[in-house]
This record gives sequence, structure tokens and C-alpha cells, in this order.
Amino acid sequence: MKLINKKNKSYSQIFQLFTEEEWTKSSKNYNKNIASLFSGKKNEVFVNANEESIIYFIGLGKSDIQNFEIQQTAVKFSQTRKEKLQAAPTLVLADFLNEKQFEEFIKGLLMGTYSYPFDKSHPFWNTKFEIHFENLSQKKLDTIGTKAEALTAGQTACQEWLNKPANLKNPVILSSYLKALAKKYDLKYTAFNRKKCEESGLNAYLSVNQGSAYDAAFTILEYKTSVKNAKTIGLVGKCVVFDTGGVSLKNPDNMHYMKSDMGGATAVIGALIYAAEMKLPVNIIAILPITDNAISEKAFLPSDVITAYNGKTIEVLNTDAEGRMILADSLSYLAKNYKTELLIDLATLTGSSVRMFGDTCGALFSNNEELKNLLIRTGDKTNQRLWNLPLWDIWKDDIQSDVADLKNISMKPFGDCIIAAKFLEQFIENHPKWAHLDIAGVAFGNTGYAKEKAATGFGVQLLADLIENYH
Ligand code: BES
Ligand code: MG
Ligand code: ZN
Repeated sequence: MKLINKKNKSYSQIFQLFTEEEWTKSSKNYNKNIASLFSGKKNEVFVNANEESIIYFIGLGKSDIQNFEIQQTAVKFSQTRKEKLQAAPTLVLADFLNEKQFEEFIKGLLMGTYSYPFDKSHPFWNTKFEIHFENLSQKKLDTIGTKAEALTAGQTACQEWLNKPANLKNPVILSSYLKALAKKYDLKYTAFNRKKCEESGLNAYLSVNQGSAYDAAFTILEYKTSVKNAKTIGLVGKCVVFDTGGVSLKNPDNMHYMKSDMGGATAVIGALIYAAEMKLPVNIIAILPITDNAISEKAFLPSDVITAYNGKTIEVLNTDAEGRMILADSLSYLAKNYKTELLIDLATLTGSSVRMFGDTCGALFSNNEELKNLLIRTGDKTNQRLWNLPLWDIWKDDIQSDVADLKNISMKPFGDCIIAAKFLEQFIENHPKWAHLDIAGVAFGNTGYAKEKAATGFGVQLLADLIENYH
């Protein structure tokens, strides 16, 4: 798709946007029967044809709509109209839209083209598809186009990898993708295999990986800006490509959903792509501890005691609480070896957070008021919402072990998302600005493009917005 500041004499396709208020003003110019067919409500589409053109009236809702709602409308329009649209110069009529609102509309059109497997056969990806919009300068349109394509690249990569079946994204396949990605975007790629992890003492990560048929791949991706004195952001994404629960085996009924246990990692990958495409003036250190959580005669066992990277010992009481094991080492490795202004981890960590918030929002934990507020604000803005939960020391008592410094579960039947966060806090090496996002309920769920649960892309826009505005 190209965005062009011009107006042809005639168009075969027109997108005419209305808020309810704008429609009230304009409707008198149309056939009066149309009033019962279109009102400008959010997501309403009315197709109107004349000799030259097919005109899509697209309802945006009330005039005080938020930007993310415009994006939602465009996503839905693009998802449902896929086959019917023509790859042709298209006029967008919407005098009342400001720059930011138009940007959200374009982002939505592009992101709405995603479905699994992504093949870009959607007319929007055809170069003959031009969007003509007179109300913004060509320079502004160029910026919007670049942003929308960067975000879509990040978001679709995120969704595509989360949606892939387990056998098509084993650690070897995923690693070769990440290597290629690093090459494309000039990222520094480092991956520690089992031997290197043993030498480095990444034993909490290795405890999960030891039962795997695949070698360890403790992966570090670094994006560096050429801008001097830029800030550095540390990101960690839980990357369990499939979680069987290990010896503490999961119930099979919903086990297939556990291909989504890399939702933290895919959010980080999406954000990295955005940052690299946009050449954002920040540095990013991203750690993706890649593994599956498998059952085998080599798998770790309940009762095992493991010495983590930071020297703390962990009694494993449940091998299904594997996320916190691999994140523990990732967080302390990042905190000890890199200096970062922010340390943020994202993880599909607990069923407890799903029971608490469903698919409404992610659970947020942080040791820093400013970062907490920034994340909540960014979540509200991007509609990838977060709600803060406490991290009081009371919960530390629940992870005290008789045979180690910590145990990996509390044995109490409640509050596990808090327990897990409290556990992770023991591995941040006193980093002053850390946040943990438990996204188990929001990464994978109902979407407009699939019949079953699928990748929502949660985290990409949230991180992209945060990173873009952090300097
Ligand atoms: N990957 C799961 C958490 C999860 C649950 C993600 C549902 C997405 C949807 C995690 O590794 C896990 O198994 N957690 C256990 C912890 C328990 C054993 C303390 C859980 O929440 O049941
Ligand atoms: Mg598990
Ligand atoms: Zn898991």
C-alpha cells in the first residue's frame, strides 16, 4: 500500500469515514432511506455504489472516540472485506480526522490483513493499492506509512510465531529464524547451547531444558542505535515453545494451547522488529530463554534443588512452574551483565492471572512507581491494558524452603501470579526499575481472524509505544 497526497478525477473505490456526529451533519445530502441503513456507529459499514465508484461508508462511532478504537474499526473492516476490495487507487474521505487518528486508521487496515498463515495476498499488500488522502502533506503521509508498516511487521511476526504449531517452531527452527532476523536488522545475536549454559551457571534455565530433545538456546538479541548517550532497555520474554508441564504433567484437555507459552517472547520479537524498522534512538537488550518443557527420562523432577545463575538455590516442587525458572536466570543474567535503565519481562506465566483477569488485561508487577504508571498509561492508550498487583513481602514467606533458598511454588491454592512475581523479584539483582507483565490471559484468545483461540499480538504495540517515547 502507498499513501499519496492527491486527488484523482475519479475513483473506483472510496472509503468515506463518519463519526455519528459527522453523519448527522452529512446525511441530508443522501437519499433519505439511507438513515435506516447507516448511522455512523462504530464498525458499521454501508456499501454505496454509483456509476463510477463503490463507496464504503465506515462508521467510527462517537466523536470522542479514542485512537485505538479507530484502529479497531479499521482492523475489522480489513479482516471482513479482504476478498471484496480492489487493489486500486482508493480515496479516503475524512476531513475531520487528525493526523494521529488517520495513522491509527492506516495501522488498523494493515494489521487487519493478518491471518494464519500470513501470505500477504490481501489487496492492501498489492502495490496497486494506493490510499489517496488530501488532508495531510506527503511528508506526513510518508511517516505514517513507515510507522504502520513497521508496526505491522512486528505484530504479524509476533502472531505468526505464536500461532505456529509446536512441531513447526521447535527451538532449532525458531533459532534459525532469529538468526536470520538478526542478520536482516543488524542485531547482535548470541545463543548459549547447553555446554555454554553449564559453564555460565544458567542452571535454572537448564533444569527446564534438560528434558528436551533440543539443545539449549539461551538467546540474546541486541539492538543498538547510532545515537549517542541513548538509553538502554532490557527486555525478557518467556519462550517456552511448548509447555507439557513436564513430569508434573498438564491435563490434556487444553494442552494444545500451550504452543502459546512463548507469548512473552513473541511480544519482544515484535517490539524489536518495530524498533529496528523505525531505527529508534534507544538500545535494547532482549533475552529469550528458548526451550520446551518436555517429559523424558532426563526431565527435571519435583524435589530437585537447583543453583540458579545468581547463586540462589531453588527447590522445584512443580515442574509446571517452569516459566519462573527460566525467567529467573534470564533476569539475573541481564541485570548482572548489562546496564539498563529499565528491566521488563513479559511472560505467559500463570493460570492464576487468567482466572483473575481473563482476557481483559495483563497483570502488572513493579518495584518502581514511575515505570508502573508509564506502563499503565501506555496500556490504556494502546488498549493492551495492565492492572497493577501488589508485591508485598508477606508473600516471600510462602516461597521459603526447608532445603533451599526458595521453592518454586507456594503450595497454597491462591494468588500464584503474585507468588510467581515475588519469586522473580529474587532474581533482579536490585534493579531499581523492573516490571513483570503476566500476559497468560491476553496473549492468546479470541481474535477477529480465527475460529479458535489465536495470537492477539498483545504486548507489541504496548512495548513499541513505550520504547518509541522513552528517551
Ligand atoms: N504456561 C503456564 C501458564 C499458563 C496457563 C499460560 C494458562 C497460559 C494459559 C505455566 O507454565 C504454568 O503451567 N503455570 C502453572 C503454575 C502452577 C503449577 C503453580 C499454573 O498456572 O497452573
Ligand atoms: Mg508450566
Ligand atoms: Zn509455561
